[in-house]
Amino acid sequence: MDFKITKLQPFGVLLEPIQGKEHIRDIAINELKELLSNEHLIALRGFKTFDNVEEFTSYCETFSEISIWPFGKVLELIQHENPKDHIFDNSYIPLHWDGMYREQVPETQVFHCVNAPGINNKGGTTFVNTKMILENTSEEVLTSWEKISCTYSRKMEFYDSKTIAPILTKHPKRDYTVIRYCEPPSNNDASFINHPGFEVTGISKDEVPDFIQNLNNTLYAPENLYTHQWETGDVVFSDNHTLLHGREAFNKNAPRHIRRIQLLGDKPLDNPHLIYTK
Ligand SMILES: [Fe+2]
Repeated sequence: MDFKITKLQPFGVLLEPIQGKEHIRDIAINELKELLSNEHLIALRGFKTFDNVEEFTSYCETFSEISIWPFGKVLELIQHENPKDHIFDNSYIPLHWDGMYREQVPETQVFHCVNAPGINNKGGTTFVNTKMILENTSEEVLTSWEKISCTYSRKMEFYDSKTIAPILTKHPKRDYTVIRYCEPPSNNDASFINHPGFEVTGISKDEVPDFIQNLNNTLYAPENLYTHQWETGDVVFSDNHTLLHGREAFNKNAPRHIRRIQLLGDKPLDNPHLIYTK
């Protein structure tokens, strides 16, 4: 099926139907896989999509095995009345990679926007292309990052885990280096629910604040970060091994409802950074 393709800035592509009546299922899966492998993010807008969770799940199953959570295959990202974790609040979500606290690391996320937050309510999903960052980072900075690792611990409804990852890590399947980093939320942010544990090793304590600040400036620089502002019916594929992602805060009680499925890929990756999970 033909579709209109537009480059997103600073990376990724937007696919739109030509007639306006095409179903997302009519796009060849191999074509989507190849596009994702080259562009790292695909947003599809204006296609007919899924009327329910079963349709979304069966569609994703044609790509690869789905990662199974205690809640099943689909995460319903919707604000809870009294959230016990920032995921289900309307706060921002720090940049991270999926599966960092689990036994297996998914290769791809698929998001389906059931209900957009609404214009001016924010709640975009943020994506950072770490391959692109490293291609434009000086040798001097790369050398300083090479010796740094971070230790993360996090306990929430679905796991209690500890992970140690070097900032610079070889992509598990391709011949380039990526950044693995879970941004610590500000300690002064009392509204952020359930702070994860965070520790930096490889540099002295005095150097840590500057390292965090410089890395955050790089990750959030407009030339490295794409924010997807949701419209109802959007579907987004993202490359979890190359990108980091997070979420903008959104206005309280905005009707934001996103479904997320994680695809494990053809050969599921055992998490090389996991110390334990309970
Ligand atoms: Fe995530």
